[in-house]
Order: sequence, then structure tokens, then C-alpha cells
Amino acid sequence: MAQKNNDEQFKNVISHAKEYGFVFQSSEIYDGLSAVYDYGQLGAELKNNIKTYWWKAMVQMHENIVGIDSAIFMHPKVWKASGHVDGFNDPMIDNKDSKKRYRADQLLENKIDELYSELANFSEANKAKFEAFQQEILGLSDEGQAAWVPGFKDEETILDHAQYPFVEEASWKFVKKGLALEVEMNLALKSENLAQLKDLIVNYKVICPISKTSNWTDVRQFNLMFSTQFGAMAEGSDEVYLRPETAQGIFVNFLNVQKSGRMKIPFGIAQIGKAFRNEVIARQFIMRMREFEQMEMQFFVRPGEDKKWFEYWKEARLKWHRALGTSPEKYRYHDHVKLAHYANAATDIEFEFPFGFKEVEGIHSRTDFDLTQHQEFSGKKMQYFDNDLNEEGKPYGNYVPYVIETSIGLDRMFLLTMINAFEEQDLSTEDKQDSRTLLRLHPALAPYKVAIFPLTKKDGLPEKAREIMDALKFDFNCIYEEKDAIGKRYRRQDAVGTPFCITVDHQSLEDNTVTIRHRDSMEQERIAIADLSDIIGKATSWKNLLA
Ligand code: GAP
Repeated sequence: MAQKNNDEQFKNVISHAKEYGFVFQSSEIYDGLSAVYDYGQLGAELKNNIKTYWWKAMVQMHENIVGIDSAIFMHPKVWKASGHVDGFNDPMIDNKDSKKRYRADQLLENKIDELYSELANFSEANKAKFEAFQQEILGLSDEGQAAWVPGFKDEETILDHAQYPFVEEASWKFVKKGLALEVEMNLALKSENLAQLKDLIVNYKVICPISKTSNWTDVRQFNLMFSTQFGAMAEGSDEVYLRPETAQGIFVNFLNVQKSGRMKIPFGIAQIGKAFRNEVIARQFIMRMREFEQMEMQFFVRPGEDKKWFEYWKEARLKWHRALGTSPEKYRYHDHVKLAHYANAATDIEFEFPFGFKEVEGIHSRTDFDLTQHQEFSGKKMQYFDNDLNEEGKPYGNYVPYVIETSIGLDRMFLLTMINAFEEQDLSTEDKQDSRTLLRLHPALAPYKVAIFPLTKKDGLPEKAREIMDALKFDFNCIYEEKDAIGKRYRRQDAVGTPFCITVDHQSLEDNTVTIRHRDSMEQERIAIADLSDIIGKATSWKNLLA
């Protein structure tokens, strides 16, 4: 039931986003382009405000972080050096009956979730014990993990209760099978054993959700980068890629920025920009797109100080999210047990979407992998000379810096913001049925800060309202509306998240006062026109988020 409500809520957010001009399907009149979306008039405003919040927090509030804007096209060797040409693949599999294509690992993850759903029957204490045990197993060496599999795999294996005190027999047989599959899948992915992935799909009886059959092709690797030809003639021209992450534009400019900006380690380079991935399955609206936007920052540190800065950024980034007023239990860290070969620590900041906890942002300790790779592939030194003195009183000297990366998907942050703000309120009283749809956006993020309404279209009220708008529009994004009854105009602004509505009436002409209505409380008060700028300015100030 809860699942149904969540599905319903998610559907409502999607249709609300379209109805009020936040997000449209790309090329909709041609039936759309899968996993590509356009931001409408209010979506563009909200997106810009999220970018501003990130940019101010990361660049403007840090003396040692600067921002750049690098090109989408980069030299093809960049992607060889970064490992994307050889390793940025998803394993995919087709169902021969439905002709649908799936990511093999996602099919298996769905199966694991299905088996783990039995955890709902565990007591909270036993569930926590199981999760600790699961982390322990997943943290073992590959050989250590593989050794556990046979004992877990078989549903019927009887386990010694003394050894597994959290066992709840009826459900445990499914849960342990889930754990066996998780381990086997991880090992197969790590060793890129595609035949093994196929075997798991067959052996664990994974079926296609459309055809309901298990008539599968073999698993193949599918590179996620989009490529195109560079140069006028297709023949003889070079293949270039649309960047799959913005980070590499930062790495290749490391020395340019360090030298021209006279940056001293530790320092960061940030950028916001488009990234492109030919996702095998794109789904859940703007959650997984083929063209999307990232906000990334690479923080260059002394080798040996990487762990300290990783912890710093982990905390700082969660604080950034929480400042928006989201309830803390909606967020959690997901520390990676399995690390990419170049990382020595990684965590995801996850948000509880209606379809479960999912990654919004990644914080990765990438060691000196990227700069060292670029040094090797370009033949140019990517080193920094550190003339600060170490504990022995000698300069740290030349080294390739280590990097902590913070990488957040702007579109995911947008979706999170919409979901979090969306509320359908029942305002019915004994005498009257009533409701409203509200976007409870933080005022600093709201597309419009203030809506200005003349009570009627005559008696000089529109002129007075326009005069107020002309004074406020330099500082705030305002909207003027004179159509429909006041109540209807209020509802429309509630639905797009405008924190203030100002009504100009006949009294305004006499004493230069207006009524101001507050979006969340719906309270109205009479105030002097001269105080408007101050009131709106205080509520919508970036200081509320950044201080
Ligand atoms: N430079 C590191 C990097 O790109 P990632 O985990 O692949 O790491 C970072 O991506 C963030 O970008 C994710 O946390 C997610 O918010 C966003 N992201 C990744 N793929 C996406 C997609 N297909 N659609 C929308 N957002 C995506």
C-alpha cells in the first residue's frame, strides 16, 4: 500500500512538473526522445537557483576553490587515459521474446532486492545484526567471499542457530540466498566475467518482466560514451566523445588553473556542465538521463592528507543538503565496500525517493590516479611544487596531488527538490471541501520570489501594482497577474512555490500599504509598500542557506 502511495506521489510530481512548466519530454510533438528532457520556463529558473546555491557554497564561500567552464569535446586520448574507452561499460542482456534490453547487473540487483524483501519479517535488532554480518562478508577478500557462497546459496541448508543468532528460519533461507547472489554478482562484475553473469541470471531464475520468460541472449559489454566525428569529412576525421563526466575537464586544466591562479595546495576546481551517457536503461523520469548535468569539484591535496579531506567533504556536502531544511532521516550515507581500482574511499549521499534510497551525490577519494594517467598519456608533468615545510623542516617538494571529488547530479537534485517540496493539502472545513497543491520550496530556490496582484483590473489598481513590480524586479524575480479571482491566483502561485503574494487594493492607493500573503501558512498581513523589499529580501537571501 505504501508502495502504491509512493508510486502515486511520484506520478503526481511528474505530471505537476509538466503542467506548470518545469519539465517537458524532449521533442514531445514527435513522441519524445527516450531519457532526454527539456526544462520549461519555471524549471529553468529552479535549476539555475540550485546551480547558484551550489556555486556560491563551493566557489564563493571558499577562498581556495575556483570555478571553470571547460568544453564538452575533449581530445580522444583524455578518455583513453581516464579509463572510459576501455572500462566505462555496462553489461547488457536482451530477452529474445520481448526484445527488451536490460542491464544484467540491474536484473540481478532486482532479484537480490526481492530476496532481501524477506528482511521485513526480521525484528529490528535481528535486521541490524544481519546488516552488520552482510557488511562483514562483503568486506572480505574475493577468496574469502567466494568461500561463503556455497553455504548460503542453497535454500534448504540448515544453519546452526548458535552461529547465526539473528536467523529467522522462514525468511532467512531467502535472505541468505540474496547474500549469496550479491557476493556472486560482485565477483563476476569485478572480474568482468560476462558468462558468469549470464549463468547467475539463469540459475537464479531471473525472468523478463515483460515476456515473463528466461529466454536470454549472452551478456555483452556496452560502452556508455556517445561518439561523433570531428572535422568536415567523415572519412579520415577523428572520433571524439561527448564527455561522460565533467571531471576530466578539471584534471586536464589542473596546471593551467594552479599556475594562472597561483593556487596553493589544498585547493579545488569546480564546474557545472553537461555530461552524456548512453544509458542502457534510462528510467524514473529525470533520475537517469542520457543528457544530464553535473556539478563537480576536484579538491587537490597533499598525499597522505587525502583521508582527512575525504571526511571533511563528506560532512560538508551533507550539510549543504540539510541546510535546505529536508528532514534528516531522508538522507543517508552509503559507504562503498567495493572500491573502484583508483579509489581508496568512496561514499554516496543517498536520498529517500518515492522509489527508495538512491544516490544523489558521490564523494570519492581518487588518489593520484587521474593526474598520473594524464601525465603518462600526454607526456606532460602534472606535478605541484610544495614549498611548505614538512615535520622535518624540509619542503614537501614535487608531487602529483591526491584528489577528493564531490560529484552531484543537478537533475537528480532538481528531482529531489521537487519531490521534497510537493504537498497536496486538504483544507476542507465542516462547511466546505477544499484543497491545494503546494510546492514548499526553500524561498531562495523558488522560481518566483513574489507575485503581484491588483485586486481588480480597474480604478488604477493595475497601475499601482505595476509600479510596485517595477521597483522590485531589479532584485527579485516577480510575476504580475490580474486574471481570475484572488483565491485562484493564490492557488496557482502555491503550486509553483512562490513564497509571497502581494495584493494591491483600494486602500493601497490611499495609504501605500498592501496585503502580503505567506505561502506556507497562508497568513496575510497589511504592510507598507516601503517594507516589501526588506521582507522579501530577508526571506529569500542566500545567507539563510550559506551562513
Ligand atoms: N566524476 C564522477 C562521476 O561522474 P558518477 O557517480 O558516475 O560519478 C556522479 O556520477 C553523479 O552524477 C551521480 O551521483 C548522479 O547524481 C549523477 N548522474 C550520473 N549518471 C546520471 C544519469 N544518467 N542521469 C542523471 N544523473 C546522473
